[in-house]
Amino acid sequence: MASGQLSRAEALACSGCRHRHACHVMLYSHTKSQLFGRIPIKYIILMQMRFDGLLGFPGGFVNQSQESLEAGLCRELMEEVGVALSVSEDDHVDARRAPGTSPSCPRLITHFYVKKLEEEQIREVEKASASTAKDHGQEVLGMVRVPLYTTKGGGGLPSFLSHAFIGNARSQLVHSLLRLRLVAPEDLRQALERSLKTHARSAADLQEALALTEAEQQPS
Ligand code: APR
Ligand code: MG
Repeated sequence: MASGQLSRAEALACSGCRHRHACHVMLYSHTKSQLFGRIPIKYIILMQMRFDGLLGFPGGFVNQSQESLEAGLCRELMEEVGVALSVSEDDHVDARRAPGTSPSCPRLITHFYVKKLEEEQIREVEKASASTAKDHGQEVLGMVRVPLYTTKGGGGLPSFLSHAFIGNARSQLVHSLLRLRLVAPEDLRQALERSLKTHARSAADLQEALALTEAEQQPS
């Protein structure tokens, strides 16, 4: 097993005040729609822009003493996307220990689920998450779709993967793309290589932006 990875039974055995559990889910559907009428979008995968400016999957903390992992996840989904969705034990794909912060903090165990929906249901989630969902505009700034194609200029998946993600959300995404064969492994490898280049360019952009604020602070 990869480092930090736990079986579901091992994860569930981590109970009491020394552990906290958080559950997140990748909701996705097949689609026949095309970008610019020619680039197949193939799958709609939902992620969210979080309050902390990071990309992540919907979900959150579960109160293990009062609810099952799946009941907690469904409650979080109701708050964050505004739709009652049933996610079951069968959709559980991964559990792992998050890297420790301090010995006095409870250790976080993250659980990851993958759930395939109909395109209609995904659209319903998108609508509700921006209107009736309690957390909209607060803990959740908006739902986003993951582009799975790469444009000629390296846009799409490579740019998306170069953003900042919460915890291990980027590896959860990449692992799911591979496991479900939503993107061919070689295409994903190339996208990640391009993503590293995009990331380096972003660092240069940030330096330029920083220089702007420094120029603003110079006494005139
Ligand atoms: N991988 C690892 N850790 C993750 C992932 C992920 N993919 N996604 C989120 N986390 C971590 C977060 O850093 C957080 O510590 O799991 C924990 C709970 O996830 P959230 O979705 O942030 O929890 P939620 O219950 O929705 O939000 C409640 O928790 O993040 C804090 O103070 C913040 O108000 C927020 C509160
Ligand atoms: Mg959350």
